[in-house]
Amino acid sequence: MTRTIVLTGPALTAEAMNHAAAHGVRVIPTTPYAADELLAVIRAEQPDAIIVRQGKLTREMIEASSKLSIIAKHGVGYDTIDIQAAADNKVPVTIALGANAQSVAEHAFALMFSVARQTALLDARMRDGHWDKTTANGVELFGKTLGLVGLGSIGGILMDLVAPLRIKVKVYDPFLKQLPEREHVEREEDFDRLLQDCDIISLHCPLTDHNRKLFGAEQFQRMRPASLLINTARGELIDTEALIHALSERQIGGAGLDTFHPEPLPADSALFGLPNVVVTPHVGANTTEARDRVGLLALQQIIGLWNGSAPEPRAVVNRHLLDN
Ligand SMILES: NC(=O)c1ccc[n+]([C@@H]2O[C@H](COP(=O)([O-])OP(=O)(O)OC[C@H]3O[C@@H](n4cnc5c(N)ncnc54)[C@H](O)[C@@H]3O)[C@@H](O)[C@H]2O)c1
Repeated sequence: MTRTIVLTGPALTAEAMNHAAAHGVRVIPTTPYAADELLAVIRAEQPDAIIVRQGKLTREMIEASSKLSIIAKHGVGYDTIDIQAAADNKVPVTIALGANAQSVAEHAFALMFSVARQTALLDARMRDGHWDKTTANGVELFGKTLGLVGLGSIGGILMDLVAPLRIKVKVYDPFLKQLPEREHVEREEDFDRLLQDCDIISLHCPLTDHNRKLFGAEQFQRMRPASLLINTARGELIDTEALIHALSERQIGGAGLDTFHPEPLPADSALFGLPNVVVTPHVGANTTEARDRVGLLALQQIIGLWNGSAPEPRAVVNRHLLDN
């Protein structure tokens, strides 16, 4: 029997597509962010599984296929999937736990360097014919204090990546059971103190109903004037208007952003006019290595379930809803 997977976005890597074909599975890529097309494809194809790569998966889409047995996120951020609707239809939603963490951690580190040394701006200026040698000025990361909001797969890797720069790490993660033992790492339970005490803050927590706009006007006022904010987690964690104000008024020193609200970031966003901002289009996990691992893991979770082996419980993000 040929099973069908609808993929919300472009085709998986060749290795993953071959893996699917070898198991007799048809994978149907769709145009990213084209909700109407996606709904129509789901209705027409009645897929056994959906891999969510880009855009939203709504209740209507989930209920459009009567054969759906699993939804797999091509990545780990699952806020774009209606996990309650999936649970109501007895469909588990899996994430590719840890498979892209190295790439995202490296991207967050790269954004720190880029903001601290204005590499994106200087590159653009140089291509425009300018030679800013006398006016450009940056800051070193060496010896600074880094606040990590969330110490899961990505935060955990970043914590170790920054160690050679003698960066002190403060971890704010209310759900973390055990802080890894490292000389340069300590826990900070008070969020306001984290804001006040760090030179760089990097976000690595999921977006939930409780932490939307975790960073707003009040938080930016508490942060150090030269501090840098790095967001490779989710755009909704930050109040964008408040961030634009804080950056324009130099309440904070700069921001490195890979995620936005909304996405794609509108072309007329005031963020584009700010010299102390580096932006990338949600590409933290876009590496050859991460794509290979994530696509393959999503497929393995799906095919594994069809063959009778349940996915790792931690990877099933709506397991608490399925049990009810
Ligand atoms: N930019 C990208 O391309 C990209 C790629 C992958 C993941 N992400 C984002 O990064 C996030 C983190 O990924 P991960 O793989 O490290 O996830 P993870 O589940 O391994 O770790 C998340 C950590 O955040 C903590 N946490 C939860 N709520 C928190 C809160 N309110 N405050 C502080 N900490 C909190 C959890 O306890 C956990 O330790 C994802 O949820 C996703 O939104 C972005």
